[in-house]
Order: sequence, then C-alpha cells, then structure tokens
Amino acid sequence: MNTAKKGLIVYSSKTGNTKKVAEGILKVLQEKNPDVRIAAVEENPEPADWNLVGFWLDQGDMDAGAAAYIDGLKGQTLGLFGTLGAPRDSMHARTCAKKAEERAAAGNVCLGSFLVQGKIDPALIESFRKLPEDNPHYPTGKSAALYDEAARHPDDRDIADAAAACLAMLEKAD
Ligand SMILES: Cc1cc2nc3c(=O)[nH]c(=O)nc-3n(C[C@H](O)[C@H](O)[C@H](O)COP(=O)(O)O)c2cc1C
Repeated sequence: MNTAKKGLIVYSSKTGNTKKVAEGILKVLQEKNPDVRIAAVEENPEPADWNLVGFWLDQGDMDAGAAAYIDGLKGQTLGLFGTLGAPRDSMHARTCAKKAEERAAAGNVCLGSFLVQGKIDPALIESFRKLPEDNPHYPTGKSAALYDEAARHPDDRDIADAAAACLAMLEKAD
C-alpha cells in the first residue's frame, strides 16, 4: 500500500456487523498508513485517493445506503467489503459480490470485493416464522442451521481475512 496516499474506509451497517469488519480493517491498514480515515455512509465523506466501501446484503443487493454513496462517486478508486447472512463461499455470496463490483465499476476503478458472513437480525428470523413452512427461509432444518452459523460471524478470522483482502486490493492499485 502506498503510504503517501490518503485512504478512506466508509461503511454502511444496520446491525453492526459491517461496522465491526470496517473497524478491523482500519486497525490493520493504520499500521501501514496512519493517514486512513473511517466514516459511516450517513456522514457522506469526501472520497480519498483510495476508498474501501463496506455494505451489507439486503434482499440480494447492496444495501441502499452504500449503493447511494457508490452511485455518487465518479472517477474514484475503490475496493468493496461486505457482510451477508449466507456463507462467504456460497454461490449467493459470489453472485452478490459480482453485482456489487459491477455497480462500483460504473465510472470508477473497482479493485475487487470481499464478503464475509454476518449474524442475521433476530427480528428478521422471527418474521420468517410467518412464512409457509415449505418456504426456504422458514427457520427449521437447513435454514435454522444457516442462521445459527451466521450468528457466530463476523468472527476474528473473517475480520483478519477481510483486512488481508483489502490490503491486497490496495497493493494491486499502487
Ligand atoms: C432486511 C434484510 C434483508 C437481508 N437480505 C439478505 C440477503 O438477501 N442475503 C443474505 O445473504 N443476507 C441478507 N440479510 C442478512 C444481512 O446481510 C447480514 O445480517 C449483514 O451482516 C447485516 O449487516 P449489518 O450488521 O452491518 O447491518 C438481510 C438482512 C436484513 C435485515
């Protein structure tokens, strides 16, 4: 990572998972470059020489807060990180990451993306009990196991891997 360049980590987070990952990334990047800022998308921070944008998955897409921030950028260099309820190595994660990268690359240089699993709001899981029992989201069997696993994330490994992936993206950009 080029330490002469200014960097920004900006994140959108409803229940704290993406914020936690953003703060973990900050800690690692600050060891290389003390000139890294962090902000929530709600603060609408000015982009820097390089930018890492964190989002959470909302119904198969980047959440609206992160999407609005990214859509407002032009000619910037950005990498993406994010959290979702599904496992990080799932097809769903890959599809969503690709979609997010396409969005970021429209008018900007997108360095890549890295997603990890994050606990799902218990209120959302509870609301799935109103669905018919054969609905894939209904919290029994495989779905219940997925929600239980998600509840253990993001963990230390997720955060360390996300930080390493972001560092690799930024090294690629130098
Ligand atoms: C309304 C809502 C919709 C969601 N949609 C998806 C989804 O489509 N796919 C998925 O894998 N996770 C989905 N999730 C799970 C979140 O992406 C996941 O819990 C994420 O880590 C939340 O991040 P945050 O704590 O930073 O807000 C959804 C969660 C909520 C509350």
